[in-house]
Amino acid sequence: MSCLNIISRNFSISTLTRAAIKNVTVVGGGLMGSGIAQISAQSGHNVTIVELNQEVLDKTHKNIQQSLQRVAKKVYKEKPQEGENFVSESLSRISTSTNLADVVQNSDLVLEAIVENLSIKHKLFKSIDDIAPEKTIFASNTSSLSIGEIAAVCKRKDKFAGLHFFNPVPVMKLLEVVRTPETSDETYEKLMAWAKAIGKTAITCKDTPGFVVNRLLVPLMAEAIRMLERGDASPRDIDIAMKLGAGHPMGPIELADYVGHDTNNSIINGWHEKFPENPLFNPLPFLQKLVDEKNWVSRLVKDIIVTRNNFLYNYCFGAEYYYFYFIHIHIC
Ligand SMILES: NC(=O)c1ccc[n+]([C@@H]2O[C@H](COP(=O)([O-])OP(=O)(O)OC[C@H]3O[C@@H](n4cnc5c(N)ncnc54)[C@H](O)[C@@H]3O)[C@@H](O)[C@H]2O)c1
Repeated sequence: MSCLNIISRNFSISTLTRAAIKNVTVVGGGLMGSGIAQISAQSGHNVTIVELNQEVLDKTHKNIQQSLQRVAKKVYKEKPQEGENFVSESLSRISTSTNLADVVQNSDLVLEAIVENLSIKHKLFKSIDDIAPEKTIFASNTSSLSIGEIAAVCKRKDKFAGLHFFNPVPVMKLLEVVRTPETSDETYEKLMAWAKAIGKTAITCKDTPGFVVNRLLVPLMAEAIRMLERGDASPRDIDIAMKLGAGHPMGPIELADYVGHDTNNSIINGWHEKFPENPLFNPLPFLQKLVDEKNWVSRLVKDIIVTRNNFLYNYCFGAEYYYFYFIHIHIC
């Protein structure tokens, strides 16, 4: 190997090492944020979780601890001491804060997993764009909003991308890395390297509605709900058909329940508003009716309704209530 090659190889390694994402700020410690924080910390990154108040942060921390313990029990079955070390070392890399402005000063990456609302996401990024270090990359875990529209309020559009994780984050292998036309190659490459470092398989996608997975899944769930509406088949038969006929691990109705009908409804309505010409995004009156009747259902299934209003099975087939109740409680 020539001297020049050695120098350039060493230079690129040291540039990469210097540039690598090490300090991650996760804004929002809910379902997704806690999973993202966990996998970042367990793969050796320093993580700060930012939430609205200390009470939520305590809950998030406890959830992460329990999730790490579950991983340790599985991975270090024969070596409990190593499992304990894994949990305590991972937790030692996690800190918490309610002051985003403070923690961004030391962040290579600020990834938001807060409520799915464009103006709230705008407020968040706007508040840190001028004060975060120039090198800091901003990312959103949005499922249904446009990354470009979220980034619109920031000057650092070249350092803005989508990082779309899947629920449950510690289990699901995929990460969609979403590039806007303005995301720079350097930002993209750093995010792809980070995705690998946290143990995910990353795919790249343009900033299009639903990216890859939801763009295919949401219309599938929507059509399954239209089938129910037309009375083409029962929820059970639709799910069995897709599991045994198409090899899906979960049927579309079961999946719709898992995601939450409130979420599905707002995604499809949001896409329809933006792309009214696309028939795949047509609103679902049946789903809207279920969402509107939340109070009626909550009286019947009040133990379930506290998490999400998943009640399609129950609504359609009362006899399946106990089956659904059992499944749902165990998923949540
Ligand atoms: N739930 C899913 O399956 C899923 C999958 C992929 C992506 N997403 C996306 O991830 C994001 C979060 O979803 P989730 O299911 O984790 O929601 P969640 O409701 O479980 O958690 C959101 C958290 O953000 C906190 N929060 C809200 N505003 C905040 C702010 N300004 N600063 C700090 N914290 C704030 C809330 O207190 C809450 O704990 C959404 O954009 C959603 O579209 C969700």
